[in-house]
Formats: sequence, C-alpha cells, structure tokens
Amino acid sequence: MNKMRKINIAIDGWSSCGKSTMARQLARLLNYVFIDSGAMYRAITLLFIRNQVDLADVRAVEQALQSINLQFQLNAESGNNEIWMNGENVEKEIRTMDVAQRVSDVAALKQVREFAVAQQQQIGQGKGVVMDGRDIGTMVFPDAELKIFMTASEDVRVSRRLKELQQKNQEITVDEVTANLRMRDHIDSTRDVSPLRRAEDAIILDNSNLSPDQQLGMALEWAKQRMAS
Ligand code: CDP
Repeated sequence: MNKMRKINIAIDGWSSCGKSTMARQLARLLNYVFIDSGAMYRAITLLFIRNQVDLADVRAVEQALQSINLQFQLNAESGNNEIWMNGENVEKEIRTMDVAQRVSDVAALKQVREFAVAQQQQIGQGKGVVMDGRDIGTMVFPDAELKIFMTASEDVRVSRRLKELQQKNQEITVDEVTANLRMRDHIDSTRDVSPLRRAEDAIILDNSNLSPDQQLGMALEWAKQRMAS
C-alpha cells in the first residue's frame, strides 16, 4: 500500500449516520489522519455557550472566534484523535445534548464556517486525511479523490444515537433524539452558507442494513481503487 498515492477522503451525510465511526476506522487502516469536523463546530458552540455569545452580534462572534485555539491530539490510550480547545480536552463535553441543540445554529454562521474551513483545508494540504462532516466534499476538499455521502433511515440513526448517549449515562428519550436529528438536518441542509448536500461525484452509501465491518470493507475497496489510479 505504501507505493500507492496519498489521497484525501471526504465523508459527508446526515446527522448520526455513522460517518465518524467509519472515517476513524478507515483512517486507522490506511494510516491516515482522521478529522471529525463536527467536533470543531461542537467545540466552538461550547465556547459560545460558556461565554454567552449572542449569535446575532457579528462582532461578538468574531471576537469569540479570535480567542479560540482548536487542536486535535492523539489519545495514546484509546488511539483516538481528541479535540482540545484552548488547552482543555473538551472531547466529552461537546457530545452533550446541550451542545447538540445549538450547534447547527452556530455552524450556520458565515464567520464560524470560514474559521473552521480554513483550518480544515490546511490540515488537508499534505493529503492522507479522512475528514467527515457536511460540506467536506462540496466546500472543504472539492478535489478529494474519494467522496462518500452516507445516509441511513431515521429509525436506525435515532436508535444508534440513543444507544451512544445512554452508554455515556446521558438521560435522554427517543423523542428528544428524534427531534434533535430532524432539527439539525433541517438547519444544516437549508442554511445559506455551504448547506449539507451530496457532491455530484460522491458515492452514496446507505448503511441502514450494513454492519460497521461491511461498510468499512466497501469504503476500503473504493479508497484502494482511488489510491492505485
Ligand atoms: O455526529 P453527528 O452526526 O451528530 O454530527 P457532527 O458531525 O458532530 O456535527 C455536529 C453539527 O456540526 C452538525 O449538525 C452541523 O450543524 C455542524 N457541522 C457542519 O455544519 N459542517 C461540518 N463539516 C460538520 C458539522
């Protein structure tokens, strides 16, 4: 595999359809860097909540962004890339429902997107990156050699996210998770600045009835084809 060319892989799709899980596994197999772009929007949202930033106040938003330093660092124990904000590991705190309720409004702001996309593009300059999000194939890496657009039925997505949150001891109901996914998908796909949509050259992967291993096998095959060509 070493003789193959390095590529960038863009994975986009609806909320909670397993993008990060697949992207992380794929990056590990290829020895690539995995970047969860959603974690960046969630971390920014966390800071905005803590500092009570008024989203309608453009200057306040700009000032808050100037004070944010985001970094991904490998956790040697788990082997995962975790997000740090201003020197603090916020990986756990960004996954709460409080953040999930507000993140799409924050991510719809032009200044926020410019801030995050610039960093994402810099990370991808040297290739060898698997990044998941909403606008990776359309905006961040429009030239990515492999683009995958993931989707799954709403039932499947809700039950996966519910299980994930319950494992983290968060008290949450099916109705709350369903409402949150619907709200985020609506805001993400209707916002003015780089809305969620499938890039024309993205492969659609519906994983409603696929196991993690099955979907990983398919993505790995596509990646190998692109790396060899
Ligand atoms: O993992 P999940 O599907 O719940 O979402 P996420 O990847 O953690 O992203 C959280 C939110 O960040 C999304 O609902 C979007 O509002 C926003 N986001 C975005 O606008 N653009 C991206 N490239 C990634 C996330």
